[in-house]
Amino acid sequence: MSQTTDTTVPGIQLIANLIKSGQATRIVALTGAGISTGAGIPDFRSPTTGLYDKLAPLRLPFPEAIFHINYFSHTPEPFYAIARARHPGNLKPTITHAFLALLAKKNLLRFLFTQNIDGLEHDAGVPAERVLWAHGNWKSQHCCKCNADYPVELMNRAIGLGEVPYCLRDGCGGAVKPDVVFFGQKLSDEFEQRKKEVSEADLMLVLGTSLKVAPCSGLPLLVKESVPRVLINNERVGDMGNRDEDVCILGSCDDGVRRLADALGWRDELECLWEEAVAAKKDVEIFDGGPSLDECIEKLASSMKDKMKVSDGHKQMLERHLNEKFGHLMAKPGP
Ligand code: APR
Repeated sequence: MSQTTDTTVPGIQLIANLIKSGQATRIVALTGAGISTGAGIPDFRSPTTGLYDKLAPLRLPFPEAIFHINYFSHTPEPFYAIARARHPGNLKPTITHAFLALLAKKNLLRFLFTQNIDGLEHDAGVPAERVLWAHGNWKSQHCCKCNADYPVELMNRAIGLGEVPYCLRDGCGGAVKPDVVFFGQKLSDEFEQRKKEVSEADLMLVLGTSLKVAPCSGLPLLVKESVPRVLINNERVGDMGNRDEDVCILGSCDDGVRRLADALGWRDELECLWEEAVAAKKDVEIFDGGPSLDECIEKLASSMKDKMKVSDGHKQMLERHLNEKFGHLMAKPGP
């Protein structure tokens, strides 16, 4: 394994040569929150800046509860209090999103699995048929009680105000949830169908993820032995770097993809594509202004203190369920 932090190191050049020589044409990528931090969406588990550390003042049973279906079904307020700060609304794709779009444009991106719900890969130009939003996205929403559809304009209004949208069907009154996969819910069947893309890949890129949450965290293990796996991430994660062919480019995703683009001779083309993607999103302003994530959490902490209490029985049930399902993967529950 070669761990590299600059273009001259063989690891990057070796990967670039594989691509330039046509030996790597079936590239599969797995992305996580780390590719969108540069767009302004905090990740989950980075110390202090990650969402789960920021949620500490809410005294949730455990930080992931805010994204657990059982918790949401009786206490949806926390999710909507921070939704605005996590919604891609007015945000623009990063150069890392653009790099994925460039791979697709060159017909080298066989498939992209993303754990992110922001849809910025698509905004950058990755065709929808080449992406699986493993954890869903903000593009549609339904009542979590009767599954009725809900208008996107009303959803965006509720998100902008930090309020819970409720079902419009008479007599239902269920909370509306974006079509994202919460803890306690299963991924779409397409995930299983698409796993073969990884075992048939001739190069895998893993970008901006802690590899802490199954089943996405298991994807890099499906890469055939002898097929190179490239990690671009602040730190080593999972078993990345354990195989001889692995290349770990540690540091920011945006720097890492720029170094790879330099080694490929694609830098100008990449910067151009990124500029176009950002310009294309310029006029999409879903929200005007709005509080920061910290302000949302502060407001929620002060107004929801008593409502956040989860009955002991419910808390034990949730913790039992989460530990059974994710115990070996979950970040230790918050304070
Ligand atoms: N450049 C490179 N790496 C970064 C950057 C960056 N700019 N920003 C963050 N990272 C790294 C972090 O160091 C961490 O290793 O990206 C990783 C992000 O990990 P998580 O915050 O755990 O996010 P992710 O892996 O996407 O989480 C998976 O957990 O809570 C659930 O559903 C949620 O999809 C999410 C899943």
